[in-house]
Amino acid sequence: MSQTRICCLGAGYVGGPTMAMIAAKCPDIQVTVTDMSEPRIRAWNEGPLPVYEPGLEDVVKKARGKNLHFTTDVKGALKAADIIFVCVGTPTKTHGVGAGRAADLTYVESAARMIAEVAEGAKIIVEKSTIPVRTASAILTILRSNSKNGTFQVLSNPEFLAEGTAVADLENPDRVLIGGEQTPEGLAAVEKVASIYARWVPRPKILTTNLWSSELSKLVANAFLAQRISSINSISALCEATEADIDEVARAIGCDSRIGPKFLKASVGFGGSCFQKDILNLVYLCEHFGLPEVAAYWESVVKMNDWQKHRFSARIVSDLFSTVTGKHIAILGFAFKKDTNDTRETAAIAVCRDLLKEGAKVVVYDPRVPETQIRSEVLGSEKNPNLVVLKNALEACQGAHGVAILTEWDEFKTLDFKKIHDGMNKPAFVFDGRNILPHAKLRELGFKVFAIGKAV
Ligand code: UDX
Repeated sequence: MSQTRICCLGAGYVGGPTMAMIAAKCPDIQVTVTDMSEPRIRAWNEGPLPVYEPGLEDVVKKARGKNLHFTTDVKGALKAADIIFVCVGTPTKTHGVGAGRAADLTYVESAARMIAEVAEGAKIIVEKSTIPVRTASAILTILRSNSKNGTFQVLSNPEFLAEGTAVADLENPDRVLIGGEQTPEGLAAVEKVASIYARWVPRPKILTTNLWSSELSKLVANAFLAQRISSINSISALCEATEADIDEVARAIGCDSRIGPKFLKASVGFGGSCFQKDILNLVYLCEHFGLPEVAAYWESVVKMNDWQKHRFSARIVSDLFSTVTGKHIAILGFAFKKDTNDTRETAAIAVCRDLLKEGAKVVVYDPRVPETQIRSEVLGSEKNPNLVVLKNALEACQGAHGVAILTEWDEFKTLDFKKIHDGMNKPAFVFDGRNILPHAKLRELGFKVFAIGKAV
């Protein structure tokens, strides 16, 4: 049997780490990751890697140059491959029908057209990008009506990895989901991809379904996860009003094995590239299929999240005697969660914007996110001297009226808060958007503390 060759379109957060893991686990399979962006491919080849993930560098080094290759020669790699993973971006549409909700499938469609143009012989196309249900049929139509010499099976194999734990998630996934057409050819293609994962994932964890169940399951998994966060965040507001404690409530309900303890941490709001995008996509699908009640139900998850972010900044303003004009607020943490430099949809964007709008001087520190990225997320191309980014947490807090924790970076837990208090304007406020600090100790030091879901 000839050697299996995989080509991956898209060297981003999903394509890069997933392909590196397949290559590391299957030395006999040639894996080529392609991207139009030369700087991105250079970074994968020479480092530092374009994606910060603990443990990823070791996995890449193990296989790179042997059976793992990164190249901008997309067509060459496509031609040689028998399995093609599509890992291109599917951002939310910014204009036209479904703007702000539907997924923009421009990159997926152009990938399909390119595959149709160059592919010869039998190819398995694997959708890994998160896409609306029934996209496979659009891809198939494009492939089958444009290709002269290719025959295609389209599979759906959504990626469930979370950022910051990508390597562990890929190494030991809860499940691998592969959907395909329920024909002999479709089932054979599913088995071919399943047998790759089976090199390191136990067979019972490899689920096979029809195409549409697999496509929809990815959206639904993210919608359920986000819904849990919005649910606990909604209760955090009630806790603040009633002297119930959100961590105690989360523990109490999480002990019910039907609910389970994970994803019940109240926060300033969820961020990341997936949750909001996928829910809006689900909402759009429901509307498209004439299900406005279902659409409204899921849309409320995003609305609650937006409310939580603005509720947090409004709380900062009201605690600081209802005005922050000219006041210095230190923001500790900008990434959407710890151990990543990703800032897509991070709650910090909304909080910083709200405070700037109120006339505050906002001084941000994040251990991993560069200044240019913070500026462009908050301000776009505008300039605002009231947004300052510093490279040190203590410095960011020097002279501040309030300190807000927006990302749960471990290093914030061990900060010298006595020193911070000494250097701050009095009364000194801490707003803990992640509930990671020792609040009683902070109060002893003289801080006024607000924490999500805790009565003052
Ligand atoms: C998510 C899904 O977990 C993953 O399966 C999917 O493939 C992609 O989307 P990711 O966006 O990397 O992964 O991060 P995740 O760890 O799920 O966190 C998302 C957001 O929710 C973060 O902002 C996080 O801080 C927040 N969160 C998470 C909470 O506020 N409370 C929680 O209890 C859990």
